Amino acid sequence: MPIRSLLFALCFLPAAATLRAAELDLNAYDEDNALDVHEICAACHGEFGQGGGDGEYPRLAGLPAGYIAGQVEDFKSRKRLNIPMLPFATERELPAEDVRDIAIYLSRIKLAPKLPVFAEGTDSYTKLLATRQVFNVPRIEGDLARGRVVLQKGCAKCHGKRGAGRAQVPPLAGQYSSYIRRQIDHILAGRRSHPDPEKYLRPYDDADWQALLAYLSTLDD
Ligand code: HEC
Ligand code: HEC
Repeated sequence: MPIRSLLFALCFLPAAATLRAAELDLNAYDEDNALDVHEICAACHGEFGQGGGDGEYPRLAGLPAGYIAGQVEDFKSRKRLNIPMLPFATERELPAEDVRDIAIYLSRIKLAPKLPVFAEGTDSYTKLLATRQVFNVPRIEGDLARGRVVLQKGCAKCHGKRGAGRAQVPPLAGQYSSYIRRQIDHILAGRRSHPDPEKYLRPYDDADWQALLAYLSTLDD
């Protein structure tokens, strides 16, 4: 590619995809405000953004900040319908600064894949807190080899080879299996936006999804 078109591509192609992420001004991040806003979110998504209800409430901890902010803006504009979040996904309840702060705050929470080894005499409260910061998707039965092929051929170019996600693309690994499955159904039913679902998701059947979820459940150990 001639250098000029390459520069053009570098400047303009990713622009649409990273626009929302680029709007997150890290210098303006206000942690106190994030902690205030987080009190609302924690009621459903957990005090460490670990989610709950076996995937009724997705994990938010460690998701890319630009992605979190983009989804909350989509909830506010009703582009993505989320009934439990309707009452406060509004400009009044969650102005842009709040969306920025909570997105950055949640993206920085690190959950451990397993419990640490506690030093002797560690108090039970510390242990309890550590337990809540462990997140590991329970293993799902399924054809791992087939699941691996679905991920590598179908999803990896955007969601990453190990399903870990990218700036504007959510991870598929490390998220509740039931949540991922429900989102696939929403996407295929046209209730949730996704790049070309006919091309990328429609070709697969239930057995492929079972296999994919089984494989994904091995990737966050
Ligand atoms: C009353 C419960 C409730 C509260 C409070 C709540 N959420 Fe949610 N949220 C949900 C549910 C339910 C979903 C999943 C919707 C679905 O299944 O599509 C969700 C989904 C999300 C998602 C999408 C994640 C993904 O990968 O698809 C984001 C981001 C999110 N919430 C952010 C927040 C933030 C930030 C707050 C606090 C300002 C918050 N939520 C407060 C219930 C809640
Ligand atoms: C061309 C890029 C691309 C490909 C290929 C792709 N995805 Fe996605 N996927 C995205 C983007 C971007 C989003 C975020 C969509 C949004 O903002 O609503 C997404 C969102 C999702 C979500 C929602 C996850 C969540 O936490 O809310 C699921 C589930 C999903 N994709 C599954 C798949 C599967 C399964 C495959 C492979 C069979 C796949 N995708 C292939 C780009 C892609």
